[in-house]
Amino acid sequence: MPLKLNEKHLSKFISADEFEAIKPQIESAHRLLHDKKGLGNAFLGWMDLPKAYDKEEFARIKSAAEKIRSDSDILVVIGIGGSYLGARAAIEFLYSQHYNDLSCKKTKIYFAGNSISPRYLNEILEICKDKDVSINVISKSGTTTEPALAFRVFREFMEKKYGAEGAKGRIYCTTDKAKGTLKSLADRNGYESFVIPDDVGGRFSVLTAVGLLPIAVAGADINALMSGAEKAMDDFANDDVYSNAACRYAAIRNILYRKGKIIEMLCSYEPSFTMMNEWFKQLYGESEGKNQKGIFPSSAIYSTDLHSLGQYVQDGARLMFETVVDIKNIGNDLFLMEDEANSDGLNFLSNQNMSLVNRKAFEGTILAHTKGGVPNLIIELDSITEFDLGYMIYFFEKACAVSGYVLAINPFNQPGVEDYKKNMFALLGKPGYEAEKETLEKLLK
Ligand code: PA5
Repeated sequence: MPLKLNEKHLSKFISADEFEAIKPQIESAHRLLHDKKGLGNAFLGWMDLPKAYDKEEFARIKSAAEKIRSDSDILVVIGIGGSYLGARAAIEFLYSQHYNDLSCKKTKIYFAGNSISPRYLNEILEICKDKDVSINVISKSGTTTEPALAFRVFREFMEKKYGAEGAKGRIYCTTDKAKGTLKSLADRNGYESFVIPDDVGGRFSVLTAVGLLPIAVAGADINALMSGAEKAMDDFANDDVYSNAACRYAAIRNILYRKGKIIEMLCSYEPSFTMMNEWFKQLYGESEGKNQKGIFPSSAIYSTDLHSLGQYVQDGARLMFETVVDIKNIGNDLFLMEDEANSDGLNFLSNQNMSLVNRKAFEGTILAHTKGGVPNLIIELDSITEFDLGYMIYFFEKACAVSGYVLAINPFNQPGVEDYKKNMFALLGKPGYEAEKETLEKLLK
């Protein structure tokens, strides 16, 4: 298995009895999920995706990616939330945060529509000015304000640059198969479209065209990605809290939550994990934060954040536990040479790989944090490959669903996200929101 849990540093925080006590709840959550009888059961398509994905569309995704790689200096991926985070997380995890600066990467990838900042959008337009560009606009609903606005701006940019006909061959839409504004726009203008299945919610959609097209443009092997997810699907199909790492992780989270550990920090010692952290935070935060319940997902990249958050983790309010993703083989080491003068006093670190220094930082930190009362779970991941990434994605998704059912919430909706939208639309004067506008404006005075 490319992913294992290491509970060595959890033993003083969780007893064997506690696992026994939660076991039946995990089993019944798992059963609900597999029998498709739980809350939100219309959104379980992600469970079978690794085997049941649309093979014809998969081939089209690969062809589109090849075309983009051959005719575009830049791909602008427009989307937000689940229509953004997975693709970016996967690309940066596999290649680095400096993906766009790697000389082997001919097609750079920029993300837009993930904020309403005019400054940010102007910067991307500027970067695209003298380059050949393709656009992949992603929105399941087809109506989300941030990407819709960015797409309006980029459509105009593309039509000016290439003419309507030329732009048509460079705009790819990933959206609902039949409904929504984006789908209508795509059909009307003849843009190639890819489908977000009805039964796959945004934050569970990275293994659909949502993630696959940008990931394939980055040059990743999406077959291996799906194979890794398929292996995880098989490995995590049982409800055994002892052998199924996804169920076990769901159990650990809920045991700790009930003991007042209401914050989970997902940590990694690899900066390329930064966006995976963001993807995780959306997956768990939007799935579990309901009915005044749920673990608050947060994250850190160590050792960087040991110099900012480290003090709090060691010594602040005892509210959190850490889940550390330990990547066993990072694949790109740096040998530290001896320096004869040793003027920086660092010769005690020389004649070894830098990854070993990072590992000692990890070991030292885990001993310090657990001593300070912070439970630590380690998720050991073999390597940074497409296969292992696919496996890890499915692991987190499966554990999230089981964990959410143990918490007795619907992990597959996000009603709370609507509130800010209603206010924003009212304040912007969107037709249909007139009644709220006046009240809200009074509150802002
Ligand atoms: O997980 C979710 O459902 C959300 O984060 C959505 O992905 C996000 O709001 C974007 O929605 P859409 O794809 O409809 O534009």
